[in-house]
Amino acid sequence: MTTFEDVLAAQDRVEPRDAMPDGYRATLVRQIAQHAHSEIIGMQPEGAWLTRAPSLRRQAVLLAKVQDEAGHGLYLYAAAETLGASREELLDALHTGRQRYSSIFNYPSLTWADVGAIGWLVDGAAIVNQVPLCRCSYGPYARAMVRVCKEESFHQRQGFELLHTLSHGTPAQHAMAQEAVDRWWWPSLMMFGPPDADSPHSAQSTAWGIKRFSNDTLRQRFIDQAVPQAEALGLTLPDPDLRWNADKDEGRGGYDYGAIDFDELRAVLRGDGPCNAERLAHRVAAHEDGAWVREAAAAYAAKHARPARPEVA
Ligand code: 3HC
Repeated sequence: MTTFEDVLAAQDRVEPRDAMPDGYRATLVRQIAQHAHSEIIGMQPEGAWLTRAPSLRRQAVLLAKVQDEAGHGLYLYAAAETLGASREELLDALHTGRQRYSSIFNYPSLTWADVGAIGWLVDGAAIVNQVPLCRCSYGPYARAMVRVCKEESFHQRQGFELLHTLSHGTPAQHAMAQEAVDRWWWPSLMMFGPPDADSPHSAQSTAWGIKRFSNDTLRQRFIDQAVPQAEALGLTLPDPDLRWNADKDEGRGGYDYGAIDFDELRAVLRGDGPCNAERLAHRVAAHEDGAWVREAAAAYAAKHARPARPEVA
C-alpha cells in the first residue's frame, strides 16, 4: 500500500482522499487560506482606482485584473475546502484576525502609478513565489497555481507597461512613477517572508514538498529579475546598496542588496501597518452587505435541489 512518505519520495501528488499527517493538512489549510485571503483583500488597493483610471482601456485592463484576483481567491478557497476546511470558517478566521493575508496589502495606493507598481512589483513577486507552488506536493493547490500563474503574468505585464508609459511621459508622470516604486519596493521584498533563519515553518514545509525554495532564495530571485526591468523602465530602485556580485550563487552571480527592515514586517503582521484596520473593516462590511446574495443563492439551491438518486442495489 502506498504511504504518504512513498508519495513524497516519488515526487508525486497527495490528493484529498489520501492519508496525510494532521500537521501536513493543517499547514496546507493555513497557507492556502492565507493565500486566498490575500487575493481577496488584494482587490482593495487597485479596486480604489477603477473609477479613476485615466482611460477606458486602462479601466478595462484594471477591471479584468481585479476580477482575476477574485477568481484566484475562489480557486484557493476551493482548494482549502478539499482539506475539510469550510469557506465560512476560513472567512470568519480572516474577519476575526485569526488568519492573515499578505503584508503587502496593508499599504495605501496613493496615485494612479501605484496600480503600475503593484502590477509590476507585487504581482511580479507573487509569480516568483507561486511558480514553485505549481509543483507543490498537494494536488489541488498545485493545479490551482497553474492557472493563477498564467493570469499573474498578464497582471505583471500590464503593470510594467503602465509604469513604462508614465516613466517615458511628462516629467510629472515620470516623478509619479518613481515615487510609487520608491514606496512599493521594500514592502514587495517583505512578501517573501522573514529571513530563512527566522522562518518557523520553512523546514517542515520544505520537507513536505509544500515549499520548494526558501524565503531568501525566492527573494533573491525576484531582486535579480527586477533590477534589469527597472533599468528598462528608466526608474531607479530605492536601494543604494544594489550592485551586481559575480561571485554570488556559486559564481552564477546575483545582486547584493541593502538591509530589509524586518521590524516593519513584524509591525505589519502585528496589525500596525498603514492600512490594516481599513482593509479588514472594508472586507467585513462587504461580506455583511453580501449576506442577502448568499441567502438568495442558498434558498434557490434548496428549492431546486434535485431529489437524491435512489441507491443502486
Ligand atoms: N505577509 C503575511 N504573513 C506573512 C508574510 C507576509 N509577507 N510572510 C510571512 N508571514 C507569516 C506566515 O504566515 C507565518 O505566520 P502564521 O504561522 O501565523 O501563518 C509567519 O509569518 C512565519 O513565516 P514563515 O516564512 O515561517 O511562513 P510560511 O512558511 O508560511 O511562508 C509565505 C510565508 C512565503 C508567505 C508562504 O506562506 C507562501 O508562500 N504562501 C503562499 C503565497 C502567498 O500567500 N502569497 C501572498 C501574496 S498573494 C498575492 O500576491 C496575490 C497576487 O495576485 C498579487
